[in-house]
Amino acid sequence: MGQRHILVADDDSSIRSLLKQLLADEGYAVAEAATGTEVVQRVVEAHPDLVIMDVRMPELDGIEALQKVKSSSPGTAVLIMTAFGSSNAAIKAMELGAIDYITKPFELDRISHTVKRAFEYQDLTQEVEVLRDEISTLVQTERIVGNSPPMQEVYKTVGKVAKSDATVLITGESGTGKELVAEALHFNSTRRGGPLVKVSCAALPETLLEAELFGHEKGSFTGAMAMRKGRFELADKGTIFLDEIGEMSLPTQTKLLRVLQERKIERVGSAIPIKVDIRVICATNKDLQKQVDQHKFRDDLFYRLNVINIHMPPLRERKDDVPPLVEHFLAKHRYSATAQPARISEEALKRLMEYEWPGNVRELENVVERAVVLSRGQIITSRELPFGDHDTEREEEGGEEVSAERSFFKKSVAQFEKDLIMKALRDANGNRSKAAEMLGIYRRLLYAKIKEYGLEGYPPKGR
Ligand SMILES: Nc1ncnc2c1ncn2[C@@H]1O[C@H](COP(=O)(O)OP(=O)(O)OP(=O)(O)O)[C@@H](O)[C@H]1O
Ligand SMILES: [Mg+2]
Repeated sequence: MGQRHILVADDDSSIRSLLKQLLADEGYAVAEAATGTEVVQRVVEAHPDLVIMDVRMPELDGIEALQKVKSSSPGTAVLIMTAFGSSNAAIKAMELGAIDYITKPFELDRISHTVKRAFEYQDLTQEVEVLRDEISTLVQTERIVGNSPPMQEVYKTVGKVAKSDATVLITGESGTGKELVAEALHFNSTRRGGPLVKVSCAALPETLLEAELFGHEKGSFTGAMAMRKGRFELADKGTIFLDEIGEMSLPTQTKLLRVLQERKIERVGSAIPIKVDIRVICATNKDLQKQVDQHKFRDDLFYRLNVINIHMPPLRERKDDVPPLVEHFLAKHRYSATAQPARISEEALKRLMEYEWPGNVRELENVVERAVVLSRGQIITSRELPFGDHDTEREEEGGEEVSAERSFFKKSVAQFEKDLIMKALRDANGNRSKAAEMLGIYRRLLYAKIKEYGLEGYPPKGR
């Protein structure tokens, strides 16, 4: 290998010269560019081995420049830098073929390490980047918020694997955003025009789950009045999301393994194989390796599912994400449709930063949502937070007050949940499927909640 040629692109000349010096010292040949247009020109002329560029540049921004670079010089690797790493820019850059993604301010060590790794990767793969005829734009689903280093790793992996058909296993504690990532994978894949079918493996007993997944022929069991297609069939040309896969029984696991191996299913009560073209994404909050060790989960299935693992870090390990998440949820949960987002006092935000978040992002969202209501959409102080002003002291006393506090929290959340369900039922004119859809929950869960809160006859007719 001769001397590697690197193009450094940034509109800030001090950053350019800093990088140039660093990389020249390491033995690379370095050229500079100050605008996106200049980047494209130089790439076309000189085909550098690597371009390091800012996503924000005058004339042509980095993402556009990246596309042009990739189409005019597929062999050139691109490393993206940004001052404010946003999840979408990260995913987008990786999706468009950037080799890695770094946020400013960066450490020089990190740069030389990343550059080295980029070249290693290039040598290793050898294969010239195949040009994608269709460079699709990133579909905005529910936004994934948070730019902490562990979340950036998540975005990188999502960007890399979304377009492939590889099976993905998403792991992580409850409420960390596993379902959100599953959606991001589907909607950024080539299958996005097809269905995304979600099945919770925990919601149903074994035989019902199998009928749900595989469908059944008429009369195949008591109650099977008509033929029904299963979820695998419904997911054809799309993605099936198997949530809480750790709850799947061993016999069903065996059947799933066959589907993965043969890409064919048989309806319950039928021996005719039906081809299915599906991409499988699974999620679990359990330690599947441990389940394997305890013989509760088939090891061969585990290896098949775990081709790509995306681990969602718990919120307590990325508290830097708390403030942007709070902002996001304040904007999402307005006091009324026309209200401005509520604001939060510094001390209340500090409490949120101190808390350990056992329920992760979902818990944070609930806490913010409730605080917006209690503060009437104005300014949230720690009085509106469920862990109160003196929580730490109380925790230390370990007395009854803590459990009183907890039960107050639970009751408030339950009340809040009930109100939301009632509102959805009203808005949907009592149509439960529609209400469940509006709430973004499984119909089955809505039925359970309706029962729990005694809302069977709600809303009363004739309103
Ligand atoms: N990074 C994030 N940015 C914005 N919203 C998030 C993020 N992570 C989670 N959420 C929100 O928190 C809630 C819980 O997320 P999700 O349902 O994806 O969690 P989960 O990991 O599937 O949890 P469980 O294991 O309990 O099913 C959702 O309302 C989701 O929109
Ligand atoms: Mg989930």
